[in-house]
Amino acid sequence: MNFEKTILITGGAGFIGSHVVRLFVNKYPGYHIVNLDKLTYAGNLENLADVEEKMNYSFEKGDITNQDFIRSLFQKYQFDGVVHLAAESHVDRSITNPLEFIEANIIGTVNLLNAARDAWKGQETGKRFYHISTDEVYGSLGEEGFFVETTAYDPRSPYSASKASSDHLVRAYHHTYNLPVVISNCSNNYGPNQFPEKLIPLVINNIKHNKPLPIYGDGKYTRDWLWVIDHAEAIDLIYHEGRVGETYNIGGNNERKNIELVQTLCDIMDAQLGRPVGQSRTLITYVKDRPGHDRRYAIDATKLKNELGWQPSISPEEGLKLTAEWYLANETWLNNVTSGAYQKYYEKQYA
Ligand code: NAD
Ligand code: DAU
Repeated sequence: MNFEKTILITGGAGFIGSHVVRLFVNKYPGYHIVNLDKLTYAGNLENLADVEEKMNYSFEKGDITNQDFIRSLFQKYQFDGVVHLAAESHVDRSITNPLEFIEANIIGTVNLLNAARDAWKGQETGKRFYHISTDEVYGSLGEEGFFVETTAYDPRSPYSASKASSDHLVRAYHHTYNLPVVISNCSNNYGPNQFPEKLIPLVINNIKHNKPLPIYGDGKYTRDWLWVIDHAEAIDLIYHEGRVGETYNIGGNNERKNIELVQTLCDIMDAQLGRPVGQSRTLITYVKDRPGHDRRYAIDATKLKNELGWQPSISPEEGLKLTAEWYLANETWLNNVTSGAYQKYYEKQYA
């Protein structure tokens, strides 16, 4: 089949990546979407069961840290663009095992940059290398203020330091080699298919099983929550209309202290499970804090709104309700990902 464009999406079997793959495959039948994923514990092809038979979709299992494999993939498909999401993404795991994060997030990104640079040399027009990053690179805020695109980087966990490093390298390849890059830095995502090591799905799963809901420290740490499908739509817009060499912040305009968020989830789950009001809140348990825990993240997404017209589409109340419903309706998915290795991780992390 002759396609208009061939786009590589890395990390497409993960949480955000699977929503991006689904959006691109369905919205752009003239594009060939190639999903490259190593299928780590966080990658799950079940997330993409509804698109796997589509003519414009291909899956490649592989590791972005493998230079030869990445180069051969660029030769095989002659990509016009890259949307790079593959990464080790969980802060707690980066504290236990930083090296994995350095390898996947830094070396992996450099391998992709090198392959794109070589493949597109002298033919950069119309090509695009889109790097998906995080608001955590900006560090931690106090009670006031917001991260803007020009906020100085101040990463404070091995995860955020590895992402910051990859952002710097992406910009360096633009300035040094004229690689047509664009970067976005996004706040905390939530929604269907998120691995239950992250706060929201972990809490939903534990409420369901009447297990303690672990709140790190005093519970007043604040995050800015964004519905994952809104993030995927922002990625689509930035990929197609973002200016080369620019950075765009993406946020939910939806700040919550962790304890407030968990209380809201308890109330939603009580209603959905037919439990008496207040029952799930009794599961809330304060536990040892995360080392180096960033106090507050909050994104100012004005640039994206003004330049490209993007804003979040649904209210947080609606999004959290939809998320709880999805996890309750997808018990097999949840059981599959929480068996085996995850059990061991959980016992160690929350011992
Ligand atoms: P995730 O952990 O759910 O998925 C990551 C995917 O990358 C998995 O499918 C995994 O198998 C794959 N992967 C990991 N290492 C790989 C390797 N070496 N080679 C090939 N594939 C590999 O992560 P996510 O939450 O979907 O995050 C996706 C991206 O978005 C990451 O770059 C992350 O830093 C960024 N981000 C995430 C959030 C969030 O709230 N989850 C917010 C902002 C930015
Ligand atoms: O801000 C964007 C980032 O959001 C992404 O770059 C990361 O990939 C993503 O994992 C997420 O990082 P956080 O560390 O903010 O997310 P997490 O869900 O792990 O934690 C959210 C908050 O909840 C944080 O303040 C830590 C706290 N927490 C987390 C867990 C897992 C708890 O209190 N208890 C828990 O058991």
